[in-house]
Amino acid sequence: MRKKLVAGNWKMHGSLAQNAMLLDAIKAGVDGLGCDVAVCPPYPYLAQAQSTLSGTAVAWGAQSVSEHVDGAFTAEVSATMLADFGCRYVLVGHSERRAMYGETDVLVAAKFAAAQRAGLLPILCVGETLAEREAGMTDLVVFRQLDAVVEACGIQALREAVVAYEPVWAIGTGVTASPAQAQEVHAAIRSRVAAVDGGVAGVLRILYGGSVKPQNAEELFGQCDVDGGLIGGAALVAEDFLAICRVAN
Ligand code: 13P
Repeated sequence: MRKKLVAGNWKMHGSLAQNAMLLDAIKAGVDGLGCDVAVCPPYPYLAQAQSTLSGTAVAWGAQSVSEHVDGAFTAEVSATMLADFGCRYVLVGHSERRAMYGETDVLVAAKFAAAQRAGLLPILCVGETLAEREAGMTDLVVFRQLDAVVEACGIQALREAVVAYEPVWAIGTGVTASPAQAQEVHAAIRSRVAAVDGGVAGVLRILYGGSVKPQNAEELFGQCDVDGGLIGGAALVAEDFLAICRVAN
C-alpha cells in the first residue's frame, strides 16, 4: 500500500506575514493525519518553512533546483543548498518551467539527478497540453518526459522519487481531469515503469495535479493509481489544503 502524499506548490505567492499564518495553520491541522504532507514555498521562504515546520509532520521542499553542483551560475540554487535548509522534496519539470523557461526533458533529468545526489526526493512533473491531448498524444508526451529521466538516471532512481501527472490544461484553470482521465494516465505511467521493473512500479507514488480542490479530491484520490496530489491554488488557503489532506488520509 502506497502512503498518499499531498504537496502544496505555492508558486510565486506569499510573504513572510502570509506564510506565517499559512504555515501555523497547516502545522496545527495535520496532527494525526495518515498521509505525508509537504509545502513548497518560494526559495527565500525555505528558511521560514524550516524554522516553523522542523519537528512537525509537515515536510517542505523547493519548486526547482539547479542541475549544477556549484559555480558561476548567477541566481541559481543548488540541491545541496536546499538540503542545507532541510528540504525533503523538490519539484522538477513543472509545466510552467518547461513552457516559460525552456526546460527540456534532458535538463529536467539533470535536475532530477542533481536533487537525488543531494539526498532530496525529486517530484517529477509530467503532463500534456490541451493541443497534445486533442491530438491523441497524451501518452507519447508523458512517456517522453518520464523516459528522459529513466534513461539518464536508471529505473531504480524512481524508488527515491515521486511523479506528478499535471495535465497543463488543468493547471490553474478550474478544469480538472475527470477521475477516469487521471486514472487512465496514472495507470499508463505505472505500466510504463512496470515494463522495466515491476517492483519499482509498485512503490512509485504518482500524484495528480491540476485544479484539485476539497470538492473533487475525494474522487480523484479514490482512483487506484492516484497516490495523492500536487496542489497549487488550494494550497494557499489553509482550510482547503487541510481538507484535501484529510481526504488523502
Ligand atoms: P492548481 O492546483 O492551481 O491548478 O495548480 C496545480 C499545479 O500546478 C501544482 O503544481
